[in-house]
Amino acid sequence: MPLNIIIGTQWGDEGKGHITDRLAHDAAVVARYSGGDNAGHTVTIGDEIFKLHLIPSGIIHPGVICLIGNGAVVNPAVLLREMDELAARGVDVGPERLKLSGAAHLITPAHIAMDRAHERARGREAIGTTMRGIGPTYTDKARREGLRAELLADPVALAGALASHVATKNEALVGGYGMEPVDVAAVLGEFTDYARRLGSHLADGPALVDEALARGHMVLAEGAQGTLLDIDHGTYPFVTSSSPTAGGAMTGLGVGPRVVDRVIGVAKAFTTRVGSGPFPTELDGAAAARLRGMGDKPWDEFGTTTGRPRRVGWLDLPILRHARRVNSLSELVLTKLDILSGLADIPVCVAYELDGRRVESFPPDLKTLARCRPIYETLPGWVEDITDARRPSDLPAAARWYVEFVSAGAGAPVSHVSVGPGRAQFIEME
Ligand code: IMP
Repeated sequence: MPLNIIIGTQWGDEGKGHITDRLAHDAAVVARYSGGDNAGHTVTIGDEIFKLHLIPSGIIHPGVICLIGNGAVVNPAVLLREMDELAARGVDVGPERLKLSGAAHLITPAHIAMDRAHERARGREAIGTTMRGIGPTYTDKARREGLRAELLADPVALAGALASHVATKNEALVGGYGMEPVDVAAVLGEFTDYARRLGSHLADGPALVDEALARGHMVLAEGAQGTLLDIDHGTYPFVTSSSPTAGGAMTGLGVGPRVVDRVIGVAKAFTTRVGSGPFPTELDGAAAARLRGMGDKPWDEFGTTTGRPRRVGWLDLPILRHARRVNSLSELVLTKLDILSGLADIPVCVAYELDGRRVESFPPDLKTLARCRPIYETLPGWVEDITDARRPSDLPAAARWYVEFVSAGAGAPVSHVSVGPGRAQFIEME
């Protein structure tokens, strides 16, 4: 059995949890390969809602091994909080089930302070980061000054590395940004405790994945963020600092492309984004509120990690074609189709108008994107409540047509559609 990869095709928050949950059932290992607790995954099982930021959502499935891979960045405080919350609800998060790759990088309070300092210094040009220290941690990794999780197994080396890390960051924080220094003694104390609790979870991530594949098991790479937040293929600089695309799964887990079978792109039936940057199909006012919801339901469009209202707009097919190309998608999963029920008609962006010309593809640079105006085709809506649909034939003709239109326009077959947050509210398409 192979490696299957789940990828966000838009700006994150596509509702990847549904398909991850479905496939995790058959997986031996579910692994995060990029990002950190900037992600937010909501998994709904019956009346129980699990909100996870860092631990792969496969943890809900007994017997599945969950790996935080070498491409991820880990705030140990968040990891332990999630472990405690899951344990309190009866989920096994012991060292046999939850593994942390020694080559993943650690996020410290100094990284978080630097994230804040950078954002403040950018002023009106701020990226709108989640303030989780993600960018500064990947920066240190690339500068070869990072703190790898393997240090948790060596308290003496950890203390030395942390002391010099915090001292360097404090110079920048105080001298460069006029901010308060980070308390080095407090950080050393905290991390001593983290090392004690997390040391037994350390693993050789690539070896673990290789062994599972060699035994014929399925490994599931659980994507976080989305294609347009990718540091290379997203809307740079309004991106995260990692590679959430399919290539990131290779380096982030330590495998080559020959082990990959399915690359499953998840797309919301409309588009959302958090943070700054151009967004061609963005809506405002009542139309935006209609898609966003009021924030009184857990699945409304408010950030799982930050609580910020998400920017919302119509579905953008050039974005999905870009995601298909960058990730070699084998299929698409279309989520939240139920949110469109009751709209009289539904505009879908099929191409852009750029300086009087029609362009079909997503532009490679931000300046061009900012000049792109969406060209819409308007599809008929449907009035029926589709939250109880379980087969394609349960969907009204207009909803089926919407799915077919997306599939043809994106150039990838839609394999599943979600019609609500519940585990069962999921349709396998023919
Ligand atoms: P960072 O990853 O915290 O550095 O934030 C960089 C950009 O990525 C910001 O626009 C964030 O809002 C966005 N971002 C990061 N993670 C997610 C996510 O899981 N969903 C949606 N947006 C995200």
